[in-house]
Amino acid sequence: MAYILAIESSCDDTSAAVINDFKIYSNVIASQSVHQKFGGVVPEWASRAHQKNIIPVVDTAIKEAGIRKEDLSAVAFTRGPGLLGSLLVGVSFAKSFATALNLPLIDVNHLEAHILAHFIKDNPDTKTPSFPFLCLLVSGGNTQIIYVKSPSDMEIIGKTIDDAAGETFDKVAKILSLPYPGGPHIDRLAKTGDINALKFAQSNMPNYDYSFSGVKTSILYTLRDKLKENPKFLEENLSDICASAQHRVVTMLLKKLEKAGKDLKIKDIAIAGGVSANSYLREKLTELGKKHNWNVFIPPFQYTTDNAAMVAVAGYFKYLNKDFATLDLTAYTR
Ligand code: KG4
Repeated sequence: MAYILAIESSCDDTSAAVINDFKIYSNVIASQSVHQKFGGVVPEWASRAHQKNIIPVVDTAIKEAGIRKEDLSAVAFTRGPGLLGSLLVGVSFAKSFATALNLPLIDVNHLEAHILAHFIKDNPDTKTPSFPFLCLLVSGGNTQIIYVKSPSDMEIIGKTIDDAAGETFDKVAKILSLPYPGGPHIDRLAKTGDINALKFAQSNMPNYDYSFSGVKTSILYTLRDKLKENPKFLEENLSDICASAQHRVVTMLLKKLEKAGKDLKIKDIAIAGGVSANSYLREKLTELGKKHNWNVFIPPFQYTTDNAAMVAVAGYFKYLNKDFATLDLTAYTR
């Protein structure tokens, strides 16, 4: 029995969670709407909002878990990567809180936490991947294929050399004047569109690497040419544009994942990160899983975006190994 309190503040969500042996007791998230009108996260505002939110969020997480702070066994926190000012709020709070209660501290890598979110036991029947497995980590800042040998041994075997998949969705959405973040809007509009309506270029990087900047430029130029012919092209073809762009990005993502799965003969395949909420990616990965007889792991929606429950699970693996942090460590951005 070990209650772990975890704190996540790497970007624009302040989150705190309490788990006990992979089971979630609470997972509280305070999101910041202040960034929406700027079309992206404003780092200084994000860290100020974290300062305001952190105490009530942690307090609520402990109360919702139905425990007292004296019952905790350790405090885990996201050390990086992320926005420095945002991370520092969580790191400083975790250090002070753990010191005051004389608890061990556990530093967690945010990206590893996204991957280890697959070990959250929402109910006793939840299936978890077996090591080694492959994880396609797709978010606003990262697109990587990771060979996960154990909770503490992960190798990046493929990555984007420029834009991340989520960034590509967000940039396309911006061209279409959709709100930020654009990924969920593209997903929603694409549902009624034709994936073959427009043909966009795709890159062909060696091995398991990706490049999305060419795709983005191809979409931009195609739409610019269409607008010359018809100034209302965007409004009149919004769903088709979204479906075609989403199809292009998802097809590229899965092509490399399929190659990695086949080459390494791995049967347990997972996705993680904000873009893993994409319904088309989920549908196409499920189809691919059936084709190759893979065990496919798709995270529940609430664990695709930033949350402290995943940090708690990653922290718990380290707790079991007594892999604790010292007070002199600080946040890292990359
Ligand atoms: O992991 P995440 O929450 O945080 C960052 O990396 O900052 O990922 C956010 C990204 C954004 O680019 C957002 O547009 C994208 O995930 N996203 C989606 C969907 N939901 C979120 N992209 C496509 N389809 C979705 N349903």
